[in-house]
Amino acid sequence: MRSTLLCTAIYALHALAAPSWTSTPFSPPSIPLAVRSPYVNTWLKQGAGTALNDAWPVFWAGQTAAWVGFVSVDGKPYSYMGTPSVDGSSYTKATQKSMNFTATQSTFVLSAGPVDLTVTFLSPTDYVKLSIPLSYMTVAVTSTDGNAHSVQVYSDVTGEWLSGSDGWDIEWSTTTTDITSHKVSLKYPALYEEIDDHIQYGSLYYSTLSGKGVTFQTGQDILARGHFLNNSVLPNTRDTNFRAIGDVWPVFALAKDLGSVKSGSVTFSVGHIRDPSAVYILPGNVRQERSLYFWSKFSTAEYVVSFFLNDYADALKTANALDARIAADAAKISPDYFGIVALSIRQSLAANELTISKNKLGLGWNTSDIMLFMKEISSDGNMNTVDVIFPASPIFHYLYPELGMALLEPLYRYQASGLYPNKWSIHDMGAHFPKAIGHAEGLDEAMPVVRTRLFLLTFANPKLAESGNMLIMAYSFAKQTGDFSQIKRYRTLLDQWTQFLIEDSLIPTNQLSTDDFAGTLTNQTNLAIKGIVGIRCMAEIAKLLGDTKTYNNYSSIAADYVTKWQVLANSTTGPHTTLNCYTATRTLGGQTYNLFFDVQLGLNLFPESLYEQQTAWYKTHLNEYGLPLDTRHTYTKSDWTIWTAGIVRDQDLRDQLVSAVAKYAGDGLNSDPFSDWYDTVSGQVSGFRARPVVGGHLALLLL
Ligand SMILES: *[C@@H]1O[C@H](CO)[C@@H](O)[C@H](O)[C@H]1NC(C)=O
Ligand SMILES: *[C@@H]1O[C@H](CO)[C@@H](O)[C@H](O)[C@H]1NC(C)=O
Ligand SMILES: *[C@@H]1O[C@H](CO)[C@@H](O)[C@H](O)[C@H]1NC(C)=O
Ligand SMILES: *[C@@H]1O[C@H](CO)[C@@H](O)[C@H](O)[C@H]1NC(C)=O
Ligand SMILES: *[C@@H]1O[C@H](CO)[C@@H](O)[C@H](O)[C@H]1NC(C)=O
Ligand SMILES: *[C@@H]1O[C@H](CO)[C@@H](O)[C@H](O)[C@H]1NC(C)=O
Repeated sequence: MRSTLLCTAIYALHALAAPSWTSTPFSPPSIPLAVRSPYVNTWLKQGAGTALNDAWPVFWAGQTAAWVGFVSVDGKPYSYMGTPSVDGSSYTKATQKSMNFTATQSTFVLSAGPVDLTVTFLSPTDYVKLSIPLSYMTVAVTSTDGNAHSVQVYSDVTGEWLSGSDGWDIEWSTTTTDITSHKVSLKYPALYEEIDDHIQYGSLYYSTLSGKGVTFQTGQDILARGHFLNNSVLPNTRDTNFRAIGDVWPVFALAKDLGSVKSGSVTFSVGHIRDPSAVYILPGNVRQERSLYFWSKFSTAEYVVSFFLNDYADALKTANALDARIAADAAKISPDYFGIVALSIRQSLAANELTISKNKLGLGWNTSDIMLFMKEISSDGNMNTVDVIFPASPIFHYLYPELGMALLEPLYRYQASGLYPNKWSIHDMGAHFPKAIGHAEGLDEAMPVVRTRLFLLTFANPKLAESGNMLIMAYSFAKQTGDFSQIKRYRTLLDQWTQFLIEDSLIPTNQLSTDDFAGTLTNQTNLAIKGIVGIRCMAEIAKLLGDTKTYNNYSSIAADYVTKWQVLANSTTGPHTTLNCYTATRTLGGQTYNLFFDVQLGLNLFPESLYEQQTAWYKTHLNEYGLPLDTRHTYTKSDWTIWTAGIVRDQDLRDQLVSAVAKYAGDGLNSDPFSDWYDTVSGQVSGFRARPVVGGHLALLLL
């Protein structure tokens, strides 16, 4: 039976002792296991180091997602994953020897008597397969004494993967065709609804390829686990007494007899599939159902699971090639950079779902209607939040620029439809994933402020930030892909947002920035930079579309603003820009990370002397774990720190900024999936976890 209390106690115990295994490139706060979609997002907390069989895997939000692994070697059972206790049966814990991670894989090596187990968790990241919400676990055994051994591998999952509440009733079935696959669903599904960040419809699939030596069982945890521990095989029996997730804990178990071998392996797939995946609002208040892209290629969930399992060798090859490319590119920046990037990729991509719609007549799929939907995991669950897409955008630039455009498409289309009442760019496509139903009242993102400070409502909306973000992304994706169709289609909208930047960028009114946790502020210097860069990006867009007149006009406005801004933003306490410019006491300062796209896009809008000046000032403000976001606090953002590393004119400082983030990520003080918000003095998390913004950690790969 699984016990969360017990698990917490064991976890705390292990957090104290330094681990006896190696962790490469470092020991992260939490290691991705199956991290593939907002709802297939399972991790192993690490703290100072926790073995795969020392704690329960958890959903990103922290709830247990029980996943158990046993291996029987010459009849002797060992555990390799989870911490189950099985009345009446006993097992030995395999001993973890190493753990490593790359961009696509987490790998654990454990010794179990005369064999080593290599347990590899692979979440593929290639384009179309990206829409398949499944992840692999492969258990490979190798004899360490040169002799063949009789080896059987077991694993199971529980209904905890399906719901935020153990009290929900579930139903299940097992298919034994070319795949042996457990399907588990909620008895009372609720379309598009979440409880504690778990989606309340769709099904969990736990599967392996059928074939010699594959057995299964559904039933109470201690019965299935006990049966394997006692017999090294499962009885192929089905428990049909459907009940609640936590009611004598039904588990969904699979086992594979590898035979008497010196080496062998078995691959399992785990995932959650639902249809439709999201709802999107069209003109006339029409609600359009959106489905995951893979449905255009597979007619049933069973087919896609079968394809996925059969595709393992190819998926591994592609993943290894991507890992190698990322390792080589990151090594060109600094030795500490690879770990940060590798840890960020699955986390960032898993927040997204690639969708299509049905053809108008309802016949077949419209695969030219691609939208990517992003969940603002952890901070508030908003959908396609512009100021989350923006910090995450480097991952799209580096891996899939066309998907970056697919993230912007729903935002453009909605605002072009006239359903959004404000003139500036919207903050997000919907208050909660997966409902992209917009904000007909125009009260987006005013919301968090509304709760505490109602009177700020009309001023607080991060209107300048979002309009600037959209313009910068519109230009950068078009420039990179050479595909101008989107900027052509939405040119009117882009120009409308630009007017707003022209009015408000030089002296920004009181409003939120992207860093909304820091509150509102008037005359934000860094926000002014974003606005000015945004104006120049619209100039570049006009140029791409052949409109030289507008290019000349907007680029001269941007240049004029830069000149004025330099005077207004100059601090009174030494050579650096102020945090909030233009005030009498200009003593504060902060990261001017919005200069990143001035550099990356080669705009050269801001003078070299500014970059030199900021570089010198940052050098004198480093704490043990990095550079504070601004001088009001000691906290920082890891994503913006990496962007700032991209604008400094000193290689040592750039390396120091990267190393400081790597130090925080590997300091052993934290245990939640990579948080982008942390304290530069204590090295501890300030808030947030598992957010897609860590895609911004790839920024230096773009330079
Ligand atoms: C991770 O560990 C596995 C098993 O020892 C090994 O094959 C692989 O090369 C390692 N990968 C990295 C990047 O260290
Ligand atoms: C496993 O064996 C033990 C000891 O004989 C027994 O108490 C237990 O009931 C068995 N478990 C199952 C599921 O058969
Ligand atoms: C496919 O989607 C595009 C984009 O929304 C739309 O313009 C087109 O009419 C759609 N085609 C069909 C056959 O529904
Ligand atoms: C330049 O753009 C501004 C802002 O849109 C506009 O007011 C002005 O008329 C334009 N100037 C020219 C010469 O087109
Ligand atoms: C900023 O202020 C310093 C004095 O603190 C001065 O030397 C410098 O010229 C000013 N720069 C600008 C662009 O106004
Ligand atoms: C913002 O800047 C303007 C222009 O310099 C100035 O008049 C105003 O007082 C500033 N507002 C605040 C709150 O600092």
